Amino acid sequence: MTETATREFSTVGVIGLGTMGAGIAEVFARNGFTVVGVEQNDVGLERGRQHLEHSTGRAVKREKLTQEQADELLGRITLTTDMQDLAGADLVVEAVVESLEVKKSIFRALDDIVRPDAVLATNTSSLSVTEISTANAKPGRVVGVHFFNPAPVQNLVEIIRTVVTEPDVLADVQELLRSLGKNPVVCGDKAGFIANTLLFGYLNHAVAMYEGKYASREDIDAAMRFGCGYPMGPLALLDLIGLDTAYEILDTMYKQGRDRLHAPAPILKQYVTAGLLGRKSGRGFYTYEAPDSPVVVADAHTPSADDKPRLHHDIKLVGVVGTGTMASGIVEVFAKAGYDVLFTGRGQDKVDGVVATITKNFDKQIQRGRATEEQKSEVLGRVRGTTSLDDLKDVDIVVEAIAEDLAIKTTLFENLDEICKPGAILATTTSSLPIISMARVTKRPQDVIGMHFFNPAAIMKLVEVVSTVATDEAVTETVLALCDRVGKVAVKCGDRSGFIVNALLFPYLNDAVKMLEAHYATADDIDTAMKQGCALPMGPFELLDVVGNDVSLAIQKELYLEFREPGFAPAPLLEHLVTAGYLGRKTGRGFRDYSAR
Ligand code: CAA
Ligand code: NAD
Repeated sequence: MTETATREFSTVGVIGLGTMGAGIAEVFARNGFTVVGVEQNDVGLERGRQHLEHSTGRAVKREKLTQEQADELLGRITLTTDMQDLAGADLVVEAVVESLEVKKSIFRALDDIVRPDAVLATNTSSLSVTEISTANAKPGRVVGVHFFNPAPVQNLVEIIRTVVTEPDVLADVQELLRSLGKNPVVCGDKAGFIANTLLFGYLNHAVAMYEGKYASREDIDAAMRFGCGYPMGPLALLDLIGLDTAYEILDTMYKQGRDRLHAPAPILKQYVTAGLLGRKSGRGFYTYEAPDSPVVVADAHTPSADDKPRLHHDIKLVGVVGTGTMASGIVEVFAKAGYDVLFTGRGQDKVDGVVATITKNFDKQIQRGRATEEQKSEVLGRVRGTTSLDDLKDVDIVVEAIAEDLAIKTTLFENLDEICKPGAILATTTSSLPIISMARVTKRPQDVIGMHFFNPAAIMKLVEVVSTVATDEAVTETVLALCDRVGKVAVKCGDRSGFIVNALLFPYLNDAVKMLEAHYATADDIDTAMKQGCALPMGPFELLDVVGNDVSLAIQKELYLEFREPGFAPAPLLEHLVTAGYLGRKTGRGFRDYSAR
């Protein structure tokens, strides 16, 4: 049943003017509402004021607001430490710390302050809205309105409906949020709702990866930005969210679902206890110029200029084995960067195919005015193809990108070990196989390394440089420096399933499938939540259909086998889609049907 909006909202109260509350107050004031902002003391009030002034000041600087509009906006907001000032509010949004007790005490107190028809909302990220609502004498007028950080930027708002929320309250709040230009998605009262349930497993996993020293904070963040196009890496995002808030969210989610993957990584608690709360306190995983500043400054963990990787090997001639999508992209990357490239294929037609692909890519660029005929002939002049592996005898490094099959790859490494000159680096671009197994069949395990390029290799910036327990440090450094020379962002990690990106990405995608399977939300709502709440370039189901469900299932199975983590078990629905042949865009049907499009 669709209700039509019945209430007029003009005065909105916001309780708590921290990271979220100040942003929420700004959203309402920007849309012409009168706002009463409440803080617990003058210090909180001053911080809230600064937050608002800073945010509107930035909008003026970027010419999104005139100074006059900014002054008007701020003029619509009254700041107070007295909750009684909320007496005239039509709607109150609570955005205080993520504590059930504090929130309940506020909803209890509001009974004696606001009008009986005022709507009450909580911005909780994970706590039970039902439980918060029961602290009020009229729980039917309570809803969750879960804004995303930064509230003025993200369009998603999750509206949490409890079993007692009155339908007209829900309809009115939906209408109100739409009038603010937000996109409300209604969901049930379950810890984490849609977006946090999917986001926080991923964030917590990234913290565990950092805590376990699998990769540096900079590399974990760069991997997700440059490998997946995320607007920020997980550790920088946690700093933006606030580590205390993040801890509470994970703790609540763990207590409700008992999923080990939501048990907050121990280091989070240590940061919170030490008062390192992220951006808001000026230090979290990173150090900031000042509290509430987004500007990261160097600290004891920042790599210094001396740490910049150097080339310990003289690299002139690069070998590539393979003629598929990845191999031809890799040939193009090195040739464009000025290296002579010798690649091998299993037949002349395949070899010619690589040259044809690079030529086609160039022609497209020339048509768009981004390259010239001279550049094309220069680059193609540096590329030579052969059908004989033996021709690789003089290369300084060889990168293989052949079939993802351990037996085929180990045979190749045995051959390369025989053929390539001593000291040549042997690199594999495998996404999932143990690199040490390839190193083991050679007499030079110290020279074997992973270079995990992303598809399309010519465009995607990231390369995961994967060292095994046997890889020589000078070889790792050389490959990192080489990536830099060819314009890639290289991150360093160890030889385990999924490296950084796939290990963080696929369990999140799998969790999305589990959520769909549990009928908590639709694929459309889940995709919308992740795109408009967290600014991800694609929703999980869009991405799964692009990647291919068979590929995703294979990766998820590898992760499950390696880490034996019950939460990594592939979602049965993913397996069923693969069995049914619904592999995604490539078969015309996956989570969505593309046949009619
Ligand atoms: N307040 C208000 N506006 C802000 C802002 C802030 N704190 N930070 C950035 N902006 C605005 C800027 O003014 C700018 O606006 P215009 O385009 O109108 O000029 C715009 O956002 C882009 O900002 P920048 O150019 O400075 O920076 P950017 O492009 O790197 O974007 C970002 C910064 C918006 C934070 C972006 O990196 C992003 O969207 N990151 C993902 C954030 C995310 O995942 N949020 C969800 C967290 S989970 C959550 O919120 C739920 C929970 O319960 C914990
Ligand atoms: P925060 O720590 O930045 O701000 C909380 C503010 O509430 C502080 O300024 C504090 O002084 C104030 N406060 C505490 N008790 C109060 C009281 N009794 N009366 C008035 N003010 C009081 O926290 P935050 O990140 O803004 O989180 C606020 C709420 O929003 C939490 O429920 C959180 O889970 C949720 N949330 C957070 C994010 C995020 O990314 N940080 C996103 C969405 C939702």
